[in-house]
Amino acid sequence: KKRVVSGVQPTGAIHLGNYLGAIKNWVALQDVYDTLFFVVDLHAITLPHEPKELIEATKKSAALYIACGVDPSKASIFVQSHVRAHAELTWLLSCVTPISWLNKMIQFKEKARKSGEDVGTGLLTYPLLMASDILLYQCDLVPVGEDQRQHLELTRDVADRVNNIYGGKKWKKRGGPGGRIFKVPDALIPPAGARIMSLTDGTSKMSKSAPSDQSRINLLDTRDEIVRKITRCKTDSFTGMEFDNPDRPECTNLLGIYQLVSGKTKEEVAEEVKDMNWGQFKPLLADALVEHLTPIQKRYGEVVAEPAYLDGILKEGAERAEVIANATLENIQNAMGFLPRQ
Ligand code: TYM
Repeated sequence: KKRVVSGVQPTGAIHLGNYLGAIKNWVALQDVYDTLFFVVDLHAITLPHEPKELIEATKKSAALYIACGVDPSKASIFVQSHVRAHAELTWLLSCVTPISWLNKMIQFKEKARKSGEDVGTGLLTYPLLMASDILLYQCDLVPVGEDQRQHLELTRDVADRVNNIYGGKKWKKRGGPGGRIFKVPDALIPPAGARIMSLTDGTSKMSKSAPSDQSRINLLDTRDEIVRKITRCKTDSFTGMEFDNPDRPECTNLLGIYQLVSGKTKEEVAEEVKDMNWGQFKPLLADALVEHLTPIQKRYGEVVAEPAYLDGILKEGAERAEVIANATLENIQNAMGFLPRQ
């Protein structure tokens, strides 16, 4: 069976972008692939954080995975920091990766600009922690949103580099295990939903770190919050509703969201809304969102009401993940020439 891994950072609330760009697609993959989904808590400390909030957000994220339909009887769900190989492999990869590769990362440049002088080293090496998350599991596919494309390309480059330097026959002659150390994975970016935009600006992506909560729909927003946010979201003064008009980014974005939460095709949506005005479309969208999110919120309530259930799933998930991750780690350690522990 081909393998799939992915994760979301437990910083702030999980929003519609994370769901439509990633989590919703995980659910579709778990029936066909061997899937592992983690909560990337080590990534969440690359910017200043509140320890108490991190622990809560970690549990909340895991519960939301399940609430969104990730099924623990099919997929392994675990917390990144519970599998120590993630942090350990990151060190090994950081010694093989040129700094110039990391300096090119768009997310690093953006975040570093915002954090100024005190930017932590971890913000620079962040993509190597992500590469470790992926390469430890010898996976085939990584379902993510568009904003992670560059990190996936870096992961592939790092995997190739390690395979070239430490894998292969040449190295075998010098005592290494030989063969390929890492499988080189592909990004799986959905045709629709890979880039959900802000409610207040159709040209910037919906994000956890945007200061205004009005800019995003969080999966746990109440009906009132959803209706209020949709009522106030940015619109334009065109008549009718249409996809893909470059002068109407907000319109394209909201129709795309409507398409995904209603389960209709793009053509069906285009036909349904073409003669509507914003005043008619907004309640339709708000209702579709509420209808889609209500069962997720109900299930979330059930999961958090039973902390022992979630603890058990995370324990089992970490135990399973650890077996796969440790085997990869041991292999690269041998290849790099570390003395095996007896
Ligand atoms: P994060 O936590 O920022 O986002 C989690 C997932 O949500 C997607 N996403 C979006 N998709 C569509 N529209 C948006 N506006 C939007 N915002 C976010 C992201 O593309 C991502 O798929 N570094 C990663 C987490 C990570 C990871 C990994 C992912 C760490 N290790 C290994 C896959 C495999 C991140 O910060 O995602």
